Amino acid sequence: MSIDKDNSSSDINFTSSHLKISLDKSTFQIKRAQSLQNIEKFWTEQAKNLVWNKYWDKTLEWNPPFAKWFVGGLVNASINCLDKHINSEIKNKAAIIWEGENGENITLTYYQLYQKVNQFSNALKNLGIRKGDRVTIYLPMVPELPIAILACSRIGAIHNVIFSGFSSTALVDRINDAKSKIIITADGGFRRGNIIELKKIVDEAIINTPSIQNVIVLRRTGNHIEMRGKDVWWHEIIQNQSSYCEPELIESIHPLFILYTSGTTGKPKGVVHSTGGYLTHIYSTAKWVFDFNQQDIFFCTADIGWITGHSYIVYAPLMHGVTEILYEGTADYPHPDRYWSFIEKYGITILYTTPTALRMYMRYGNEIPNSFNLSTLRLLGTVGEPINPEVWMWYFTIIGKEKCPIVDTWWQTETGGIMISHCTGIDIMPMKPGSAMFPVPGVDLAVVNEEGNTLPQNQKGYLVIRKPWPGMLMTLWEDDGKYKNNYWKFQNYYYFTGDYAIIDDELYFWLLGRSDDVIKISGHRLGTIELESTFISHESVAEAAVTSKPDRIKGESIIAFLVLKKDFVESDQLRKEIIEHIRNNIGAIATPNEVYFVDRLPKTRSGKIMRRLLKSVVSGLTIGDTTTLEDGTSIKEIQKIYNDLNDIIKNK
Ligand code: PRX
Repeated sequence: MSIDKDNSSSDINFTSSHLKISLDKSTFQIKRAQSLQNIEKFWTEQAKNLVWNKYWDKTLEWNPPFAKWFVGGLVNASINCLDKHINSEIKNKAAIIWEGENGENITLTYYQLYQKVNQFSNALKNLGIRKGDRVTIYLPMVPELPIAILACSRIGAIHNVIFSGFSSTALVDRINDAKSKIIITADGGFRRGNIIELKKIVDEAIINTPSIQNVIVLRRTGNHIEMRGKDVWWHEIIQNQSSYCEPELIESIHPLFILYTSGTTGKPKGVVHSTGGYLTHIYSTAKWVFDFNQQDIFFCTADIGWITGHSYIVYAPLMHGVTEILYEGTADYPHPDRYWSFIEKYGITILYTTPTALRMYMRYGNEIPNSFNLSTLRLLGTVGEPINPEVWMWYFTIIGKEKCPIVDTWWQTETGGIMISHCTGIDIMPMKPGSAMFPVPGVDLAVVNEEGNTLPQNQKGYLVIRKPWPGMLMTLWEDDGKYKNNYWKFQNYYYFTGDYAIIDDELYFWLLGRSDDVIKISGHRLGTIELESTFISHESVAEAAVTSKPDRIKGESIIAFLVLKKDFVESDQLRKEIIEHIRNNIGAIATPNEVYFVDRLPKTRSGKIMRRLLKSVVSGLTIGDTTTLEDGTSIKEIQKIYNDLNDIIKNK
């Protein structure tokens, strides 16, 4: 493995300075440089790897900040994932090997998956769903989840998957914004040995969602549920449906899906992805990053409710005809060995997971992974948050036995697919633990200052994308204005990622976390303002300020400062109630770690919450060189607020 260990500094400090020449001349850098000379030409070549019903007339229509890729082209995602394989040797190969939390197994071959998707497509049509209609999917990690997604794509319905850990309030917001006609759910889902009553959550939600005409219910747990007027059973509506459904002809620029994600404003944003551009991006990046081959057994541990699951569980691996593992449960239940035991059991060749999961496993020591045969692994990936160099090293040595390259993939819900990564399918490059390495071919990334000017190497700044890319979001659902304001604040239409980054001497990219009010808890994205609004919606809370602090396992944890309304008195009981309120209104992932009651929030004279100061206080940092703020708030005032908050925290 070509990594260069610089023993002169510390054990985990890798450099590759003596490989500089080979870096510049590597196949990868040459390919990347060529791709950037003419991105349209480059992506035209990549798009030809897909099955098109009709080729496009124009590769890119760029009316900043709106990009349309492969205009005039017709393409269907389900044809690319299924139909294209069923007349090939892949037809009877396992597409999905599913393992339930309680050890049940189901294997679906490409042909079986194709039939099930066709049947369910017909069932959806029978319920009146047509091209362009929105379908909300709220299912646990069971095979019916990708089946429902692929069925939507087959008939041109726009899917809107909602993570099954979200609450009924979260469902209401998203369903109403998308105006979905149907919601697909289950009688329940298994989580750590308990049943999550998904149908009950849906029943509560749909009282407030007038657009919903039907609820499709999958029988999963056998849990008793009440079937009401709009409810239909999955197994009943597929009965007597033909196992062939003519796929719709879908324009390349037709939305494939909406996926809601948190941002810097109160409400989640409905990120809209196209069909042709998105599929081209994820097909290409899957090949470059994972170097898929026909012997691979791929295990992506994400939940399909997030973008990683959409792109690299549902669409890209199936387009490549790969066998993949779908797992219903959590990494450490019933034992903290799930991923390692699956690697041995199924002969997994590629593991794609999160730094949070790795940190959790690391805590249990090396004995557990060492007790399994992990020798089938050939590649290891991470996603969703920065990976600490020591975790990277553990992954590389203990799991990969120093023979598997690591792909630390940086991207976002909005980018659709991977943007920065080690591209092992093009070239194995010298690795630096903690760096995501280089932008993939065909994407142009830079680090800029506040004014949008490109910064020299080794200077921390804002990560931007300088040219449109095919996986790029089209807009925010029915809100072009918000789309413009959120992402396009820089000159020359540079896309604002919200992340800080540095590019080092050898052009390696280092991601340094969010620069905005977005936090990442176990790799899940939450907005501090969204959290604050939810705190304030509790009857006792007058004002709220939310920040995060580093967490050894979860990456970050949520800390809240609350001012109570005058009729309420602080107590542990009230704190518990408020925490429960957050769980019920967003979901368990938003559970705050610490909640402090304060008399007033740290604000500037002009009324802005001092977020940097909050972060310093909770992280135990000094406030540093904070000069007088523009609105006249003096360092003395800031220092006093800082001291007061510190006292509160220390006294708890
Ligand atoms: O801050 C970056 C972080 O996750 C954000 C995007 O979150 P989301 O839309 O939920 O998508 C996550 C899965 C693609 C980014 O703005 N992030 C993602 N991957 C990495 C990362 N931070 C550092 N290193 C990564 N590899």
